Amino acid sequence: MSKLKTLHESDGILGVLEKILFRLKKIFWSAYYRRRFRAFGRGSIVTGYISLRGAKKTIIGSNVVIEEGSSFFVSDGELVVGDSSFIGAQSQIVVEGHLTIGERLSLLKNSQISSLGNSRIGKEVWVARDCWIGGKDLSIEDHVIIGPGVFLIDADHRVDSSTGQISMHGEIHGPIRIESNAWIGARTVILKKVTIGSGAIVGAGSVVTKDVPPHVVAVGVPAKAIKKLG
Ligand SMILES: CC(C)(COP(=O)(O)OP(=O)(O)OC[C@H]1O[C@@H](n2cnc3c(N)ncnc32)[C@H](O)[C@@H]1OP(=O)(O)O)[C@@H](O)C(=O)NCCC(=O)NCCS
Repeated sequence: MSKLKTLHESDGILGVLEKILFRLKKIFWSAYYRRRFRAFGRGSIVTGYISLRGAKKTIIGSNVVIEEGSSFFVSDGELVVGDSSFIGAQSQIVVEGHLTIGERLSLLKNSQISSLGNSRIGKEVWVARDCWIGGKDLSIEDHVIIGPGVFLIDADHRVDSSTGQISMHGEIHGPIRIESNAWIGARTVILKKVTIGSGAIVGAGSVVTKDVPPHVVAVGVPAKAIKKLG
C-alpha cells in the first residue's frame, strides 16, 4: 500500500515536471519559429522541431497550433494559414504556387496537402489523419469534413500511348472542388475534374470519378448517388 502511494506521489511529481518541460519547450520553439516565418500571429505556438523551406513565404495567422514533426515546404508563391488552425504532428503542407487556408483548419496527424498551383481551403475544414490532398487547382469550401485516409488526386499519367515509359508520357491535371458542408467518408479516392456538391455525403471506400450533385448520398466504385437528402 505504502509502495503504491509512493509510486502515485512520484508519478504526480513527474507529471508536473513533464507539464513544465512541455510548456518550456513550447515557449522556446514558438519564440524560435516566430522569427523564421514571414508572419506569425499572436497566440500561435509551435510545440517542437518542425521542417521548414520557404518560411519567408509563409504567413501563420493568430492562435495557430503547429505540432512537433510537421513540415512546411513553400518553394514558390505563398502559403497563408488561417487563424486558430491546427497542424498535426507529421503532417505536411507543400506549396508551389499559392495556397490560402481559412480559419480553423484541422489537419490531423500524418496528412499532406500539396498545392502545385493555386488552391483554396475555406474555413472550419476538418481533414482527418493519413489523408493525401494534392493538385494544381483544388478548392475545398467551408465546413467540409474529410475522413481518415482520403486521397484527392488531380493528376493522371497519360494513358494514350502504349510505347515507352509511362512516367515519361506526361500528366493530365483537372480541378477538384468540394463544395461547402460536404462529408467525404474514410478511404475515399477523388479523381481529377470532379466536383462534390454542397452538402453531399460520399460513403467510405468510394472512388469518385464523376461529379456528385449537391445534397445526395453517393457510394461505391465508381461512386453513384443512392439517395437524395431532405
Ligand atoms: C454512406 C453512409 C453515410 C451511410 O449512408 P446511409 O444513407 O445511412 O446508407 P444506408 O446505410 O441506408 O445504406 C444504403 C445502401 O448503401 C450501401 N452502402 C452504404 N455505405 C456504403 C459504402 N460506403 N460503400 C458502398 N455501399 C454502401 C448499403 O449497403 C445499402 O445498400 P443496400 O440498399 O443494397 O442494402 C455510410 O455507410 C458511410 O459510408 N459512412 C462513412 C463513415 C466514415 O467514413 N466515417 C468517418 C468519419 S469522418
